[in-house]
This record gives sequence, structure tokens and C-alpha cells, in this order.
Amino acid sequence: MINEATLVIGEQSFQFPICEGTEGERAIDIQDLRARTGYITLDPGYGNTGSCQSAITFIDGEKGILRYRGIPIEQFEQNPNFVEVAWLLIFGHLPSEQEYRAFSADLTASANLDESMKHHFEGFPRSAPPMAILSAMINALSCFHPECFELEDEEHFRVAAAGLISKVRTIAAYAYRHSIGQPYIYPDPALRYVPNFLHMLFSQPYAEHFCEPVVRDAINLVLLLHADHEQNCSTSTVRMVGSSQANLFAACAAGVCALWGPLHGGANVAVLEMLDRIHRGHISPEEYVRMAKDKDSKVRLMGFGHRVYKNFDPRARMLATVAERLLPTLGFNDPLLDIARRLEEIALEDPYFVERKLYPNVDFYSGIIMRAVGIPTNMFTVLFSIGRLPGWIAHWWEQSCTTGSKIARPRQIYTGAGITDHVPRDGR
Ligand code: ACO
Repeated sequence: MINEATLVIGEQSFQFPICEGTEGERAIDIQDLRARTGYITLDPGYGNTGSCQSAITFIDGEKGILRYRGIPIEQFEQNPNFVEVAWLLIFGHLPSEQEYRAFSADLTASANLDESMKHHFEGFPRSAPPMAILSAMINALSCFHPECFELEDEEHFRVAAAGLISKVRTIAAYAYRHSIGQPYIYPDPALRYVPNFLHMLFSQPYAEHFCEPVVRDAINLVLLLHADHEQNCSTSTVRMVGSSQANLFAACAAGVCALWGPLHGGANVAVLEMLDRIHRGHISPEEYVRMAKDKDSKVRLMGFGHRVYKNFDPRARMLATVAERLLPTLGFNDPLLDIARRLEEIALEDPYFVERKLYPNVDFYSGIIMRAVGIPTNMFTVLFSIGRLPGWIAHWWEQSCTTGSKIARPRQIYTGAGITDHVPRDGR
């Protein structure tokens, strides 16, 4: 087996060790490249750069494989349970009955926000993007829980993690209620994670929202399918911020901002907007795909393509199945689902998409499911954040526990002006 790589620069050659992951992924360890050669690597977008070693999630993008702590993602389809997956990702094993009960009890106990936090929501305009509120309020949360600044041991961390996973729902629901001018609904300790969230979103003081089991399962699945995806943009952001030893809440607030973008978590909104544009504009799916292939049109087929998957995103398959099952059960006849199906059919047979290995990603069907259960479009990325939070927490903790972790500090190749004299304003 090859365990060294040789780099030849001019007359000199240098040996670098090769490290191998448990699934056979191989990397050339260049940690001392610059010290030994004077060179750095240049990899914009980090497509070839391993920023860490991690034991949380495995992806094989060529084969369309996703595993959480070794468990294939498809195995979470039966009786989907987001809380159990959160525990698994963060603590590395499926929770025992006792661990599960204790964690659920922690989630229930910490669902309320400090009462004075409610006033923060009123400071935002009703039209404020909920992702801005979510990020700001996760950061603000740390002010009410100063213990999170010093997480001394696993027990303190567990309480902080449960608090964050629980309260993020309350923040998300309050942001929504504020945006529509309706009273905040307190969490109900009798309800489980997903029904409680939907209760805070949709109940009225005089009319309790009832969560159908089929909806509970669909949202559990949506959340758990988003729970981790190794070193994506937002998780790398959480690790980057955490590498400066910033606290868990600050790092996760930064993760929300990274997720907001339309090329990342914001794509689920972009997909729905695209489907709606096609529907309202009476554009045929064939015509839209043609526009997506035309580089001058600046149109992309949103929900298609992925930096890592060059095959079907397994999450997209699972969500497509849920959408097909859920919508008829709810009696929801959505023309956007028909358009999505047709776009998928056309794109999967079109040489442009086939050659570039562009397949539906997780965002392609998630929006249709959320829309069917009444979640407004501007809350889609917020739900993605709630789902991704356990992954961010797991990565923050893994990094914090790694001996010798360094502050993240990439380098650059400077391409600006050479040394230039300052000219006083009256001489310019
Ligand atoms: N529609 C049309 N063409 C596309 C699409 C698309 N959705 N995605 C990629 N391409 C084309 C590019 O134009 C490029 O073509 P070229 O080689 O002729 O220049 C080629 O495919 C490669 O595209 P890149 O942008 O280089 O691929 P990259 O891996 O950097 O980007 C990304 C991946 C950002 C996800 C991209 O596929 C995209 O913009 N998709 C639409 C947005 C989306 O769905 N994002 C969600 C991603 S999943 C997530 O974050 C949870």
C-alpha cells in the first residue's frame, strides 16, 4: 500500500505521508508543506481540501451513500425520530432507553425562552427575514445562559446542547408568530419535539393545533435528513468560528448565516420560488430546463446539483417518496409537485445534466413537503437550520475535544498591487 506521496519541485523532491480514513478515503497530509517547501496549495472552494478528521458522518458522493455514525441514512426511514438522531450524531451512539428519556426530559425542561427574550422579537420589523432573527436570537440566547461560555465537561455540554436544540424551535416559532402579528404560543411539555414545534407555529390561544401522525413523521424525517452532511458550508463555518474557541451558541449562530444563502440552505426556498414561477408564468418544464442549460440566462435548475453528490442524493429519493405519500393523505393536490416530477424526468434524461452528473438534491422535494403541512416558504430554511443544528453541535464538540486543534487560518495568493506610495488627498 502506498503510504507516502512525492512532490517534485524543480530539482528537489519532498515526501508527504498519506493518511487513510476508515472507508478508504485517502489524503496527502501537507500540514508542514509550507515550512518545508515555501509553497502553499491553492484550492478555491476547498473541493480538494480536508479541513479535519471527523467520525460523525460518511458520504460517498460518487455512489450516493450517506451514513450517520456508520448507519445508512435509509435505515432512519421507519419511525423517524429526530431527537434520537440528534443524540446519535452528538454522542456517537444510539441512545439507550434511559439516555433517550433523560435527553427528552432535558429538551422538555428547556423549551421556554427567558420571558424577557420575547421583547427582542418586537424589535424586529414584521418583514424581517426569519433567518436573520434566528441567527440574532441564538446569539442573544448565550447572554441568558452564561454557563455556555465555559462548558467544562460532557455533562455541562449535554445540558447546553439540549437547551439549544429545544429553544431553537421556540425562537423559530416566535419569529413566525411575530411576522404574522399573532400571539406567541408557549411550548407544551406534554408534546414531543415535532408536534410541540407545530403547536407553537400553528395553535391559537383558543384552538389547539393537532399534529397528524403522518405529518409528525414527515417533519421528523425532513429534520433528520438535514441533521448532518459533514464539511458543508455552514458546518465548516461552525468549525471555523469554533476554532477560535468562540462558544457553542456563537458558532451555531454563524452556521445559520452560512446556511441562509441560496446556494446552500436557501435553495429550498429557491426551489419553491422556481416551481411557482413556472406554474404562474405558464412556462413549460421543457422550456425551463432549456433556460437552465443556457449560460446567458443566469437561470439554474434549483434543487439540482451538489458539490459532493455526483449521483442521486439519497435524501432526495427518500423525500420524493414521502411527498408522494403525504400529499394524497392530506388531500393536498399540488400542481408544483407535478412540475417537480416533470422537471426531474426531463433533467435526468438530458445530456447536459447527465454529463455534469447533476441529480436532484435534498432541497428539491423538501419544500413541497413543508408547503403541504402549511409551513410558509420563508420558514423553509429555518426548518433546515433546526434540522442541521445537531450536526453543528456534534462538529463543534468533536473539534473542542480534539487535542491540538488549531485556529482555522487559510492562506492566500496575493494578486493586488505591488508596493505603492500613499498620495495625500489634495494631490490625487
Ligand atoms: N442548473 C444548471 N446547471 C448547473 C446546475 C444547476 N442546478 N448546477 C451546476 N450546473 C452546471 C454549472 O453551470 C457548471 O457547468 P459548466 O461546467 O458548463 O460551467 C457545472 O454544472 C458545474 O457546476 P458548479 O457550479 O461548478 O458545481 P459546484 O459543485 O460548484 O456547485 C451547486 C454545486 C452550488 C449545488 C450547484 O449545483 C447549484 O448551484 N445548484 C443549484 C442550487 C442548489 O440546489 N443548492 C443546494 C445544494 S444542497 C445543499 O446545500 C443543502
